[in-house]
Amino acid sequence: MRKKIIAGNWKMNTDLNSGLELAKNVSQKVDEFAFNSDEFGMIVSPPFTHIHAIGNVLSSKIGLSSQNVAEWSNGAYTGEISAQMVKSIGANYAILGHSERRSYFGEDNQVLFTKLKLTLENNLTPIFCIGEVLEEREENKQFDVVKSQIDEVLFKLDVVDFKKVIIAYEPVWAIGTGKTASPEQAQEIHAYIRKIVADKFGANVADNTTVLYGGSCKPSNADGLFSQPDIDGGLIGGAALNADDFVQLLKQLVANK
Ligand code: 13P
Repeated sequence: MRKKIIAGNWKMNTDLNSGLELAKNVSQKVDEFAFNSDEFGMIVSPPFTHIHAIGNVLSSKIGLSSQNVAEWSNGAYTGEISAQMVKSIGANYAILGHSERRSYFGEDNQVLFTKLKLTLENNLTPIFCIGEVLEEREENKQFDVVKSQIDEVLFKLDVVDFKKVIIAYEPVWAIGTGKTASPEQAQEIHAYIRKIVADKFGANVADNTTVLYGGSCKPSNADGLFSQPDIDGGLIGGAALNADDFVQLLKQLVANK
């Protein structure tokens, strides 16, 4: 059965010392909490600069992710960081296609497919983000938007690679705004995502695909979200910067599944 996950996207927050402190605090709290790590997982995604050092202090129960990888494997791309580099410093996951990357850095489906391939080639598990902006939601286009984001990137993979991907549905209007999708709104899209995966790769693959929700998810609203049948956990921004809240979200996920 699919894994249920709480992943923390730290974005461009913390310096090395405060990041290490946060990682240690989260690790300690996670180590004190008994849960089935075959069924549930936790991942942190610090800035590139912290990944290696955090890998040395992180609980063995917590996975380590980058927030991006370059669209090239190596070469004269000043300032870029490749999937291979990320893998070599101890990360096992990479967030791809976050809406902030799509909107501020112009990452389109074509670029994201290249990044996805490089991520998989380097044995990093992609956490692939999709989601509609407010105007699209207001025009009831959210289904078409997530379908094309999946069709044009994830469905270009063969089934063996597709099965390695974690999907994160993050409605852009809910990110960092304090405005969460209601459990019903989120469940509706998650069920739709699972349906199109089933149509493409079969019910068994769909049942085994982890689909996380992201967008202002925090302990006060997580029970409603995590109790939905197609929501397999969260990709957490702001609340991942507080060790108590972040680990509390894992506890709520375990309690609701
Ligand atoms: P917030 O939880 O701060 O809304 O961020 C969500 C997010 O973008 C995670 O990738």
